[in-house]
Amino acid sequence: MKRCVLIISIISSVIGSAIGFISERPRHTTPALYANEGSVMKAGDSMLLPGASWTDTDGNMIQAHGGQVQYMPVPDGRCGKKYAYVWVGENKTWGHTGDPVSVYTSEDLISWECHGDVLRPLPDEAAMDTDPYFVSLYGEDTADKKAEIRGILSPGGIIERPKMLYNEKNDNYVLWFHSDGSTEKNEYLYDIGMAGVAVSDSPYGPFKVLGRYRLNRCPDDQIDCFPDSKGEARDMNLFQDTDGTAYIVYTSENNKTIYISRLNEDYTYLSEDPMTAAEGEDFVRIFPGAMREAPALTKGDDGRYYLMTSSTTGWMSNQARVWSADQILGRWRNDGNPCIDAGASVTYDTQSTCLFRTKEGSLVYMGDRWSMSDLADSRYVWLPAEFSDGKLKIRWEGSWKPE
Ligand code: GAL
Repeated sequence: MKRCVLIISIISSVIGSAIGFISERPRHTTPALYANEGSVMKAGDSMLLPGASWTDTDGNMIQAHGGQVQYMPVPDGRCGKKYAYVWVGENKTWGHTGDPVSVYTSEDLISWECHGDVLRPLPDEAAMDTDPYFVSLYGEDTADKKAEIRGILSPGGIIERPKMLYNEKNDNYVLWFHSDGSTEKNEYLYDIGMAGVAVSDSPYGPFKVLGRYRLNRCPDDQIDCFPDSKGEARDMNLFQDTDGTAYIVYTSENNKTIYISRLNEDYTYLSEDPMTAAEGEDFVRIFPGAMREAPALTKGDDGRYYLMTSSTTGWMSNQARVWSADQILGRWRNDGNPCIDAGASVTYDTQSTCLFRTKEGSLVYMGDRWSMSDLADSRYVWLPAEFSDGKLKIRWEGSWKPE
């Protein structure tokens, strides 16, 4: 009998520690990366704490994952504009699917004011025709368009890596996002593989979805890494060049090849239809088959373009890589891993989402430390980035103030 009790208690303690292990955040071998894990970063604090729990000016946890920060024009009073840092990202309160896009603003990158969900998925199919929020946005659309939007905003769908640009010509805001979900053929949540686009007169929304698209495809004289599903667009980002031209950067060919494609002047679609677009003029395929995702593109002080990506291991962190080029649609060079401190082999346990400039001009790396068992509790890890010897370098800092 005693033996039986002993065996049961050993089994339950093994199961207990296994559950404990699973529910814990996976860790890599550098404790410094997790020093802020139990801390809270609050509005009014003076230092950025990578990996802490970040809260907004109302004391709520910031929900803006897979996001982007830019110093950009925002409304000021009835007709004016001022500049502020705008952070757009995934509100993962509800987990993996049906996530709204949220927006926060700040003057100093530490105190963030929440402007709520600026792009909302449908709570249910009927809401498209009954909920005043959706009726005011889509009520005038044709039945076909409404059916398309219903698919894009489906409660079981994927809206990831939202990125926003201000379009000066139209004085409006354009939001692109990875739009995905299962299909009749395949239950896999990422079977659609498209880029969605929405517009609004304000960065605070409401954004109206215009559609979702497959983008450029592998030219006929090159080896397509995924010929069965052409023009896929998954993890994505936007980049606005100094002359105002905008580009969408995305992983395609079943996550095997990164593309950069030029957008039209409204930023709402490609500048050239995929059927007539030419590689090197309208888009570029970079290192076909390299299997990279989570793209973040920036321009160096030397006028060179630097594109940081992760490998494709889902929510698990891996080693970052930077490619650089003189011409955005030209030939790219492999610059290797930008991380230089302990934890470099796993990008300090993060995945890239954006590289942005402060108003003073310094560069910040913005990464997500995903928490697979509780996506809403994924942490933000922002670090100082700089150029040295013609390469992008990212240092670890446990506590710092961007300038
Ligand atoms: C990652 C991707 C994330 C999310 C995740 C789902 O590779 O970068 O945005 O899609 O996979 O597993």
